[in-house]
Amino acid sequence: MLSKAYAGRTLGCRALASQAGKPGCGPAVRAGKNARMLRGEMTGLRARHDSDIPILHAELYDDVATRARADSRPWYPIPPGPGSPYQVSGPDEHLSCFSVVELATGALAGEALLWGIDLHNRTAHVGISLLPASRGRSLGTDVVRVLCHYGFAVRGLHRLQAETLADNHAMIKAATRAGFTREGTLRRSAWVNGNFADEVILGLLAAEWQAS
Ligand SMILES: CC(C)(COP(=O)(O)OP(=O)(O)OC[C@H]1O[C@@H](n2cnc3c(N)ncnc32)[C@H](O)[C@@H]1OP(=O)(O)O)[C@@H](O)C(=O)NCCC(=O)NCCS
Repeated sequence: MLSKAYAGRTLGCRALASQAGKPGCGPAVRAGKNARMLRGEMTGLRARHDSDIPILHAELYDDVATRARADSRPWYPIPPGPGSPYQVSGPDEHLSCFSVVELATGALAGEALLWGIDLHNRTAHVGISLLPASRGRSLGTDVVRVLCHYGFAVRGLHRLQAETLADNHAMIKAATRAGFTREGTLRRSAWVNGNFADEVILGLLAAEWQAS
């Protein structure tokens, strides 16, 4: 399923077998040395801190049912610690992992990433997993917008893609509110918790993001 290049990495959105102050982010997005993070209106994306890892591992990875819906690979028991999928080893031009924080409190809210960054075709995939307490509060849309700023403005990409289960209405709505177009359905393409499920593909082009 997933490219071996990403084996052992955590992916906040489903991976597909076939693919291993900016308007689109809103004027509140700022990237600067002093900020030390990319900022949206409600959320910030910053580098992973060691103290984030046990929280992300316990609340995201060990929630087997939710994790199985968010990742195309099978779930395996992995102890927290050096082998945790939330460990970030260093800069990787094909993968950018962030921790999400709530700007109002500074509290950790989840993880976000651009994965499968393809520097020839200038494409990448977005992934998000919010901690349970941070879901359902419209943070997801804000995080998608900040990822778009990172992908298009910082990395110079041309197309971003999200893939998710067809019944993940919150993810689909967060992506479409951030400007993504629903491009298609992969019928019964995902084995999830005992059943085959449909996945949807959503895409956003740099020109569309610039125009929004
Ligand atoms: C998916 C996720 C990132 C969405 O972020 P979120 O902050 O929880 O979502 P929001 O609160 O912004 O909701 C987005 C929209 O979807 C709507 N929504 C949520 N659940 C819904 C449902 N079951 N049916 C229809 N709409 C729904 C919300 O009402 C909201 O729309 P609104 O702002 O117009 O009211 C987050 O819920 C999450 O991390 N879930 C677990 C991991 C996951 O599924 N990740 C994505 C894997 S591809």
